[in-house]
Amino acid sequence: MRKPVIAGNWKLFKTNKEAADLITRLIPEVKSNRNVDIVVAPVFTALTSVKQAIAASNIMLAGQDCFWEEEGAFTGEVSPKLLLDAGCSHVIIGHSERRQYFGETDETVNKKMKAALKAGLTVLFCIGETLAQREAEKTFEVLNRQVTGGLSGITKEQLKNIIIAYEPVWAIGTGKTATDEQAQEAHAFIRSLVTGLYNQTAGNKIRILYGGSVKPENIKGLMTQPDIDGALVGGASLKAESFSAIVNFG
Ligand code: PGA
Repeated sequence: MRKPVIAGNWKLFKTNKEAADLITRLIPEVKSNRNVDIVVAPVFTALTSVKQAIAASNIMLAGQDCFWEEEGAFTGEVSPKLLLDAGCSHVIIGHSERRQYFGETDETVNKKMKAALKAGLTVLFCIGETLAQREAEKTFEVLNRQVTGGLSGITKEQLKNIIIAYEPVWAIGTGKTATDEQAQEAHAFIRSLVTGLYNQTAGNKIRILYGGSVKPENIKGLMTQPDIDGALVGGASLKAESFSAIVNFG
């Protein structure tokens, strides 16, 4: 059995005070839920205050990105070690917004993943095709490239600390969710890629989340699909009411 993961990606939203407000509202709503791994990813500057608030709760903390070097003359970057220091257990790597606006490639994603894994973080490894790629029937080709490139040189042992998030770019923040069937088809394909790269057990075990306009209204349908193991939630994670409804989908 794969334990579901519901992760909230707060993106570039929330001051320390707003983050603290959100998390304090969220904690009581999800505290009795032991069936789901719950993760939130605030901006770097709010990590410490959110960590304090979730200390005795069942919520885990993620960074939204990290650099591959541990330290050095790299102005503006944050290392996996510093994320651990701030209380993170997880880190999002390769989000489509990073790929789109900040020049992330499969190669940089791979370097970041290796560094994060080496430091002991669990990685939320994001992949997904754009609308143009889907319309050109390149979805599988793109997913194959992203999965193969991202996981290059990563061992079977390290894979245990990777969670894949399939996020079709055309569904992110657009209100346009992939249908349950479209998502399931992509997830099954991604699982088969992992099986091919590693083995059957690795393919069976890896958790694959869906992301892209996940809301309380569509989480149930998505979660009934055999290869969907949770969600990476953007917009709907910014309110305790909608995020807790997604966490408590069952
Ligand atoms: P969304 O974002 O839920 O607002 O579509 C998802 C994501 O970017 O992770």
